[in-house]
Amino acid sequence: MTVRAEYDRAAADYDRRWARYNRASLALLRPWLEGRDLGDVVDVGCGTGNLPPLLAHSAGAIGGYVGADLSAGMLRMARAKAIGGTVRTGFVGADAGKLPLRDRSFDTAVSASALHYWDDARAGLAEIRRVLRPGGRLLLLDWVRDPLPMRLLNAWMRLARVQYRRMYSRAELEAALTAAEFRVQAQARGSAGGPWRLIAFDARAV
Ligand SMILES: C[S@@+](CC[C@H](N)C(=O)[O-])C[C@H]1O[C@@H](n2cnc3c(N)ncnc32)[C@H](O)[C@@H]1O
Repeated sequence: MTVRAEYDRAAADYDRRWARYNRASLALLRPWLEGRDLGDVVDVGCGTGNLPPLLAHSAGAIGGYVGADLSAGMLRMARAKAIGGTVRTGFVGADAGKLPLRDRSFDTAVSASALHYWDDARAGLAEIRRVLRPGGRLLLLDWVRDPLPMRLLNAWMRLARVQYRRMYSRAELEAALTAAEFRVQAQARGSAGGPWRLIAFDARAV
């Protein structure tokens, strides 16, 4: 089954099933959102749209928000959730490697728990770089392979043929960001319960 089909199937129950993970993972980004003016925001691999409520509660000024995702099912949930929200939102069906968005049209990009699915992480990051304005920020959050629980989980997920592309180490993620012309300004590590160990980067387009 493809990633898209898997998320289409999981969409209706996704928020309930992954509530703890979603809360804990996105909390890692909160210190970088709090009180900050983010301008126009693009969320790559936006899923069911858990970011806009967090932006509404934590961030300073937001111009608008566009969520991009492969899965029509996840986007359907995101659109429904966004109704009545305080952040101006739009959603687009797209692969991270080919965003149907104009060059230099966003001030902030966020991608949470999505990069490990991308066919080509560097191409996805370069695409994010393309749509960011000069000096724009990328808040990137993903699994990190280095800690032992994640190496064991990685091995188990491979055996169980769970659909994802790759789990990256911190060094690999840093190298991919540098290759896509981002400069890492801060990083944070955290856990989302169980074996899930995460890393987050606050990086600037250079
Ligand atoms: C684990 S969910 C995370 C959703 C959301 N970012 C959050 O933190 O709640 C991963 C999402 O990435 C999307 N995704 C996976 N590969 C993608 C790709 N190549 N391009 C765009 N979206 C992708 C999936 O459809 C899914 O909605």
